[in-house]
Amino acid sequence: MPTIKQIPSQATFAVRQPVLRPGKSTDTCIFDGDDLPTTNHFGIYENEQILGVISIFQANHEFFNEERQYQIRGMAVLENQQKKGLGDQLVQAAEQYVCQQNGKKIWFNAREIAVGFYNKMGYTVIGEPFNIGDIGTHFVMHKTL
Ligand SMILES: CC(C)(COP(=O)(O)OP(=O)(O)OC[C@H]1O[C@@H](n2cnc3c(N)ncnc32)[C@H](O)[C@@H]1OP(=O)(O)O)[C@@H](O)C(=O)NCCC(=O)NCCS
Repeated sequence: MPTIKQIPSQATFAVRQPVLRPGKSTDTCIFDGDDLPTTNHFGIYENEQILGVISIFQANHEFFNEERQYQIRGMAVLENQQKKGLGDQLVQAAEQYVCQQNGKKIWFNAREIAVGFYNKMGYTVIGEPFNIGDIGTHFVMHKTL
């Protein structure tokens, strides 16, 4: 059974790098705010191997009015471990954490290919698609808790 643990930001790089920054250096896996006290990272493990990660930042988006908003970033599951329910478990862990913090809104910039996954988790698209650097088309998605 996979287990989810809270982890330091550096532990996410083993998944962020191959999945989200393939062919790029580990430096590109460092996100602004990774080590703020209000940021948390979770990893899903099996046999002490990290298989997927999610990070949750306290950050407000201009689209929303809720006082305490949280942003999911760095959501990734190793390619050979995808479609086994691990991503689902990671999002649930992040939601549980946000609930504990009394957060009312979760939002993020979703890659186009991941929109279907987040729809299944109850998130909806808001606004127009936009481009992020060399990564491609993204959508803002959100859920009110
Ligand atoms: C998107 C991602 C995190 C999903 O994680 P995962 O572990 O593969 O997802 P799960 O197995 O938990 O899937 C949960 C449900 O969503 C579905 N799903 C998974 N990926 C999907 C996708 N890209 N599009 C549509 N549905 C998807 C699954 O089939 C499953 O549905 P079911 O419950 O009906 O069987 C993972 O595929 C990934 O890391 N992709 C590459 C990086 C990426 O795009 N990250 C998101 C950046 S915004």
